[in-house]
Amino acid sequence: MSRKLRWMWALLPLAGLQAETGADAWLRYSALDAATARRYVSALPATVVLMGDSPVERTARTELIRGIKGMLGVTLRVGSTVPADGAIVLGLEGVVRKAAPGLPAGAALTEDGYALSVRGAGGSRRVAVLGGSERGVLYGTFALLRKIAMGEPVEAWNERSVPYAPVRWVNHWDNLDGTIERGYGGRSIFWDKGVVREDLSRVSEYGRLLASLGINGCSINNVNADPRVLTPAYLPQLARIAEAFRPWGVRVVLSVDFGSPQRVGGLATFDPLDAGVAAWWKAKTDELYRAVPDLAGLLLKADSEGRIGPSAYGRTHADAANVIARALKPHGGLFFYRGFVYDHHMDWRNLKNDRARAAYDNFYRLDGQFDDNVVIQIKHGPIDFQVREPASPLFGALEKSNQAIELQVTQEYFGQARQLVFLVPMWKEVLDFDMQAKGAGTPVKALAAGRVFRRPAGGFVGVSNVGLDANWLGNHLSQANLYGFGRLAWNPDLTSQQIASEWTRLTFGADPQVAQTIEALQLKSWRVFENYTGPLGLQTLTDIVGNHYGVSVEASERNGWGQWHRSDEKGAGMDRTVATGTGYAGQYRPAVAQRYEGLATCPDELLLFFHHVPYTHVLHSGKTVIQTLYDLHYEGAASVEGYVRSWRALRGRVDEQRYAEVLAQLEYHAGQAQVWRDAVNNWFRRASGIADGKGRVGQHPGRVEAEAMKLEGYVETPVTPWEGGSGGKGIVCEGATCSASTTFAGQSAWYTLRVQYFDQNNGRARYRVKVGEQVVDEWAAGNWVPSAKIDSSTSTRRSLAGIALRPGDVIRIEGQPEGGEKAGLDYVEVVAERP
Ligand code: GCU
Repeated sequence: MSRKLRWMWALLPLAGLQAETGADAWLRYSALDAATARRYVSALPATVVLMGDSPVERTARTELIRGIKGMLGVTLRVGSTVPADGAIVLGLEGVVRKAAPGLPAGAALTEDGYALSVRGAGGSRRVAVLGGSERGVLYGTFALLRKIAMGEPVEAWNERSVPYAPVRWVNHWDNLDGTIERGYGGRSIFWDKGVVREDLSRVSEYGRLLASLGINGCSINNVNADPRVLTPAYLPQLARIAEAFRPWGVRVVLSVDFGSPQRVGGLATFDPLDAGVAAWWKAKTDELYRAVPDLAGLLLKADSEGRIGPSAYGRTHADAANVIARALKPHGGLFFYRGFVYDHHMDWRNLKNDRARAAYDNFYRLDGQFDDNVVIQIKHGPIDFQVREPASPLFGALEKSNQAIELQVTQEYFGQARQLVFLVPMWKEVLDFDMQAKGAGTPVKALAAGRVFRRPAGGFVGVSNVGLDANWLGNHLSQANLYGFGRLAWNPDLTSQQIASEWTRLTFGADPQVAQTIEALQLKSWRVFENYTGPLGLQTLTDIVGNHYGVSVEASERNGWGQWHRSDEKGAGMDRTVATGTGYAGQYRPAVAQRYEGLATCPDELLLFFHHVPYTHVLHSGKTVIQTLYDLHYEGAASVEGYVRSWRALRGRVDEQRYAEVLAQLEYHAGQAQVWRDAVNNWFRRASGIADGKGRVGQHPGRVEAEAMKLEGYVETPVTPWEGGSGGKGIVCEGATCSASTTFAGQSAWYTLRVQYFDQNNGRARYRVKVGEQVVDEWAAGNWVPSAKIDSSTSTRRSLAGIALRPGDVIRIEGQPEGGEKAGLDYVEVVAERP
């Protein structure tokens, strides 16, 4: 740290606001205020006694000591017996009860459950943390620490808590070379250059985060699996990852390639009904378990997006699943078969084709044919983690098969961790959705957990994709999604509000203004994102065939991927009704199917997912479809502007590092929301031919298009697709330096100057802004966005507040390209500041 910086830290207004990298996420254990800490210290015994000696239980004791030291500033004594002045006793329920009779009775804890019990008072108080399993002891310890961090009085700690479902796993889409498919938090914590990393300390830290939420399994390689992971050279490496996770009770899961018997086994076939193939899977699985005796199971993506599968031999998914499941069975392992099976070469001209139908069509007929250690892992919606989808009908269709719900924590279609989107409210809508699978009262969460049809396995899987970046996910606020996934996997009845408030308090501390601000931002962020992307069931409207990031309204159309919304000059939406469409609505049980089938009964927010309607169709809200699209996009973008204002008010209340990093992210986000607003609105304005009733679309007072400025060295370029650039055009610098100038003709006042430029990922161009001869801003475009083109993904806003302009002032932008980055510009906007 430089001298100057050290001096600045010393001046920070509030105590305890050291820079935080986010690495400890919600387990910071930062010091509580002195009075609260004193209260806890006098209410708690000074000794911890562990009745057990397994690695997981020992982890619990270490964590308890660490947490109490951090939050309360005292070090617990380690005892082997309970002293006269009481103790915090940790251990398996049966063991502790025997040693300390008199604990309140309760139903025996099921595996992984825990109970906290507080007996006596003052000097001889006993606090017991009882586990149904060793993991339960650890989970109970984390619960106790959470209660301290949340400020809950010790007297109120008594509770029993058992997880809603046995499967609480995360998946990673990490490649062996260390890259992560759809990962936004840096490189893999597991892999590097084709092998398991030497240093697995980050894996242990991750195990700690997972354990604090009760997550007990983690797949460590991409579902688009490299078959080499099953070769002997990898076995000792997998064993090392398992070892790093083991003290945290997290078991390793491996993704496999269905062609492995042939690709790495040297067999002539991978036909699941071939006896040699079955023997190969058995021998391979036995070998895996010799290396990793507590392997939780295997995971397979087959017959999907180019992955091979049983269709190569005309076999069923049940044939494929069972051959591997039988090899796992003697070891107690589970086999996860992904329900994400679809044809990505569908004929888009055929209005009856529908990707949404695929999961159900592929699996419901096979119900009853899967072995009981097979779990069908079903994405929450029928397409692919779009901004809003109905719950997959497959949840309601499988009665004799285990299932699990797959939720995506990594924000692939949600701004890729550069934008703030808290996904818990969206997940809650799906989890609580009543599929009416056995009459009313069968929400998705209960079906996925196997509670409705009494299945032996089932639960929750989150695609996490954390990386080596200090803050794990690429931005501080995205951590709330991992936290929320884990909390819901333990207890899906928690509300979004409870989860947001817990996470905020644990991650940012007890300052009520901080807590209220962040909670409010998180809770509205999904709807806001939906508003400026693809509302009314249109899906995300992003570049489906490219980076899944920037706006590209038609990218989904006229190709075989099947994410169609079929918007054209007549209307928008995809007809999925039974009466006239693809029949998808009929995959739901009748009560649900009827609601979606009827134009009058279909909820507005999913209207265009189920129906194709003219733009003038009037919604339940009383507004037309087209006006709603316009309005929501303006509302959405304005809300994100509001995020920046709210965050700025927290200056000095959040540590400087996180404050600055989140502010930069939100400012960027506000610029992107405006790009989306304009792109989607202009696209629909052109398609529909209907003007915005409020006169905003296509009208931008204060905006000067770059191509209309006085250019020196800069040349005009089309933006592709056109809606990603204002006026469909931008400019790029073809020389060493270029400039674009405009003369200000407005009134003398204070303004915010916004420069919309293109920050490609193939260079670091420099920009300079001058008013007259005075340089008022300069920067290097070094942001990493997933595109090397002049397009909506690279379109970035630089805002400069507090500029005094006078009529006749020349505003001049100078650009200096670097590498492949051409110092591109879209427009300059002069926005009057409120007095
Ligand atoms: C999405 C994602 C892919 C991923 C796939 C899957 O389509 O874009 O990267 O492989 O889902 O879930 O298998």
